[in-house]
Amino acid sequence: MSIVLLSGSPSSPSRSARLLDLVGRRLNDRGHDTELLTLRDLPAQPLLRADTHDRVIAEAVDKVARSKALVVATPVYKAAYSGLLKTFLDLLTQDGLLGKVVLPLATAGSPAHVLALDYALRPVLQSLGPSHILGGVYATDRQIRWDESTGLSVDEDIEWRISLAVDQLDESLHLRAHSDRLRKANADASGLLAAQRC
Ligand SMILES: Cc1cc2nc3c(=O)[nH]c(=O)nc-3n(C[C@H](O)[C@H](O)[C@H](O)COP(=O)(O)O)c2cc1C
Repeated sequence: MSIVLLSGSPSSPSRSARLLDLVGRRLNDRGHDTELLTLRDLPAQPLLRADTHDRVIAEAVDKVARSKALVVATPVYKAAYSGLLKTFLDLLTQDGLLGKVVLPLATAGSPAHVLALDYALRPVLQSLGPSHILGGVYATDRQIRWDESTGLSVDEDIEWRISLAVDQLDESLHLRAHSDRLRKANADASGLLAAQRC
């Protein structure tokens, strides 16, 4: 199972997608597989019509279903998250994030809408049943810079927040893997005892 990197910006190039890519590379450095899901590349009409029978839409939904965790990146639009992201989240079933760990990321023009992550995005994600939503990373456009030759650079504060978020995601996934192993060992032991009693 991999970690889905969900890019929710309708723009290209996209600041939030670049930040997402940075987080993805940090997760790869920790040995996690990642899969990118760029919502702007999904076919517009089936997406807007919530046509989950469309092959590409169905594959995108399935990618999320098969993942163990998601990093959800969005630009802040009108003090909330993007409509594109909402359109996709609306396609997921009520327990579409069941058992998954979620890390939200947002980029914005101003620091004034930092609560968009907690007031707008978090409740919607929470309603989809994830096991855990980590504290998000919110970066303003001034805190992230792009250079064609050197790539993305971010302010020290954002670098620190990304490291913390990646640590927390990594730790949550290790804890979950450990408790899955314990649960399986318990189930195997119970099965063995039941078989001995027969
Ligand atoms: C339609 C629109 C609405 C926006 N609304 C806000 C806003 O309410 N608050 C804010 O801080 N920035 C706002 N911005 C700025 C973007 O959030 C910011 O530039 C972001 O980094 C863009 O990310 P992207 O390149 O991934 O799309 C808005 C930009 C657009 C195009």
